[in-house]
Amino acid sequence: MALNRREFAATVFGTSASLLAHRFAIAQAAPLITKKIPSSGEGIPVIGLGTARRYETMKNAEELGLLRDTLREFKTLGGTIIDSSPTYGTAEAVIGTITEELKIRDGLFLATKVSISGREAGINQIEQSFKSLKTSRIDLIAVHNLRDTTVHLKTLRDLKAAGRIRYVGITTSFENQYKNFEETVRRETLDFIQIDYALDNRNAGERIIPLANDRGMAVMVNLPFGRGRLFHAVQGKQLPDWAAEVDCKTWAQFFLKYIVSHEGVTCAVPGMAQVKYVPDNLGAAQGRLPDAAMRKRMESFIDGI
Ligand SMILES: NC(=O)c1ccc[n+]([C@@H]2O[C@H](COP(=O)([O-])OP(=O)(O)OC[C@H]3O[C@@H](n4cnc5c(N)ncnc54)[C@H](OP(=O)(O)O)[C@@H]3O)[C@@H](O)[C@H]2O)c1
Repeated sequence: MALNRREFAATVFGTSASLLAHRFAIAQAAPLITKKIPSSGEGIPVIGLGTARRYETMKNAEELGLLRDTLREFKTLGGTIIDSSPTYGTAEAVIGTITEELKIRDGLFLATKVSISGREAGINQIEQSFKSLKTSRIDLIAVHNLRDTTVHLKTLRDLKAAGRIRYVGITTSFENQYKNFEETVRRETLDFIQIDYALDNRNAGERIIPLANDRGMAVMVNLPFGRGRLFHAVQGKQLPDWAAEVDCKTWAQFFLKYIVSHEGVTCAVPGMAQVKYVPDNLGAAQGRLPDAAMRKRMESFIDGI
């Protein structure tokens, strides 16, 4: 995305000098790397935004303002995918309110979940998601943590057939669900799976992600930083010089580029509730991505800490 001086000044007004420099760099750089959703061929940026925890308990206008700035920045820099859930407290309502205020719904890919037992309860929860997100179409709804999967998949397929949602999926972030999750991936026809995968949590990359890939499913990665665990692991450490070979300028980019360079991964949704994280994390969707040898080097590095 190329900006002229005036557009640049208008876009960046009110932000700090380092953020401005970072943002200018990303705005001038190549567009975000995209990957295709196998079931449709639609391309989506490899980095999205997760709304667990930080979007869950909005208490006042000041807190909402910080998230508004974050989502505005995300959209301005080319981000599209926002992942939420009706179980994330105020998150869906926050997204709905802000996207309506900023008038940015059309450019976004909204993903949420159904997370309750029972057919009727599931339908009610999904209808509430449409209301909270203030939209007539949700891009992706996934069954959360395999809760009543068969029942909800039927509802979701009906909604897809009616054109109210575009994609259907399932999620987990618990290793003790992997066996059941894998069986579900083998059995069901799905557009997406969502699973936890990180540089220090690589199990899903061995079997489930390749299996989903073979079955023609897109893979959205949750907990890409292990809920911040990876940042703690490298606290006080310098990014290795060789990280520059794949255009990593920060630890966040190091961790995210590892994930999205897995050939079966379509996108990752890091939790992002601060404006300064947006250009940093979206920077992982630009420049060179690690090849197999570099991925091994990254793994050895983190294993050695
Ligand atoms: N089963 C499921 O369906 C499931 C389960 C878990 C998560 N999810 C989805 O996955 C998303 C991601 O998970 P998560 O948010 O829990 O964990 P995460 O993305 O692994 O880590 C978030 C943490 O990383 C920090 N962070 C983000 N960007 C940073 C940057 N550029 N530099 C430094 N620190 C940075 C955040 O800092 P702050 O502390 O400052 O905010 C936060 O502590 C969720 O938001 C949700 O959408 C789905």
